[in-house]
Amino acid sequence: MASPKILLIVGGGIAAYKACELVRLVKKAGGEVTCVLTEGGSHFVTAMTLAALSENPVHTTLWDLKNEVEMGHIQLSRQADLVVVCPATADLMAKMAAGIADDLASTLLLATNKPVLAVPAMNVRMWQHAATIRNVATLHASGVTVMEPDEGAMACGEYGPGRLPEPEAVWAQIRTMLGGDPLAAQPDFATPAHRPLFGKHVLVTAGPTHEPIDPVRYIANRSSGRQGFAIAEAAAEAGARVTLVAGPVNLPTPPGVERIDVETAREMAAAVEAALPADVAVMVAAVADWRVAEEVGQKLKKDGSGKIPPLSLTENPDILAGLAKSAQRPGLLIGFAAETHDVVAHAQAKLARKGADWIVANDVSGDVMGGAVNAVHIVTAAGVESLPEMAKGDVARELVERIANAL
Ligand code: CTP
Repeated sequence: MASPKILLIVGGGIAAYKACELVRLVKKAGGEVTCVLTEGGSHFVTAMTLAALSENPVHTTLWDLKNEVEMGHIQLSRQADLVVVCPATADLMAKMAAGIADDLASTLLLATNKPVLAVPAMNVRMWQHAATIRNVATLHASGVTVMEPDEGAMACGEYGPGRLPEPEAVWAQIRTMLGGDPLAAQPDFATPAHRPLFGKHVLVTAGPTHEPIDPVRYIANRSSGRQGFAIAEAAAEAGARVTLVAGPVNLPTPPGVERIDVETAREMAAAVEAALPADVAVMVAAVADWRVAEEVGQKLKKDGSGKIPPLSLTENPDILAGLAKSAQRPGLLIGFAAETHDVVAHAQAKLARKGADWIVANDVSGDVMGGAVNAVHIVTAAGVESLPEMAKGDVARELVERIANAL
């Protein structure tokens, strides 16, 4: 990565001092940093400090006419390769989610056409508040990458998630977003023990697909997406960069996960291909095996004759089997198998047929599909491990632990 240009927006929080360390890391690696200091941020670090460290002028106000002549705020927002908001306060993220532009930082964030990374830091209750959860989901949906805050003791005396991640982790995320490999480039960055998937890219598919019959009808299945979303969440918690390709489901995006929404099996196949390369792919989606051979552009109507319209079906691409054969096959490829009978035997056959490394099989003859619990069998070439029935979040964490061990 040749000399990346970072526009660093420093929000108002005690963690702002860590932004100074981040500037130092980017500069040390040969990058360029231009800082924007919010009014709040200026109560914690000075423009002088950031200017000295970045060796660039620091921008603080929208109404600086001289700067507007020399460099308009639109230009400022677009000349960088990446915009980083660090620390991203609850207030700044709320403004970003709502599209409010009432100071230089929020205006730049609305005007930019570059990728944006938000690095949150706030009190644990503020991080867990429904409003912040909503705002983070909105930011994810609009393409902003939001890092997971660290967990631990806070400046305010409370304990929990909300601490700004260490500057080294932020710099690693920046390099990932700019196309570099943070671990290869920065061998000094130890993988934190509680983040065993740090530096890995995990691709997850989840939910059903909808295959249109006509503009108002479609073929679907009962998958809720909950197990796949739980796996994406657990992988992100373990420090992975996670891409979640989701069929039509009614679920919030887990924090720190990049979500791509699709409808049909063919759209899902294309989104999976676009997300490669990945270190691990976990294909949890209940992809429709068939679609209507000829989709009609107009609603099918009853003509009064009692005749039923013939629906001829054609097979959808098998995304998992295709990935197994592709040149970009992930190092660890995991499929799911929803079965109603002979669960393990079918899973073993699927393992061979699809070319996966593991098949996670579950019995869906009860109300697993859409339910909160699951009992799975992990089928590999080495044998079968059966887990007891547990919440889907726990199944996800068990699986992520095994993925981390396998890597
Ligand atoms: N899968 C896929 N693309 C498809 C069908 C399935 O990627 N077109 C993946 C699923 O995401 C899952 C695995 O393959 O990881 C097994 O899915 P399943 O529906 O159980 O397998 P099928 O091949 O459809 O077998 P069957 O429906 O006959 O049991």
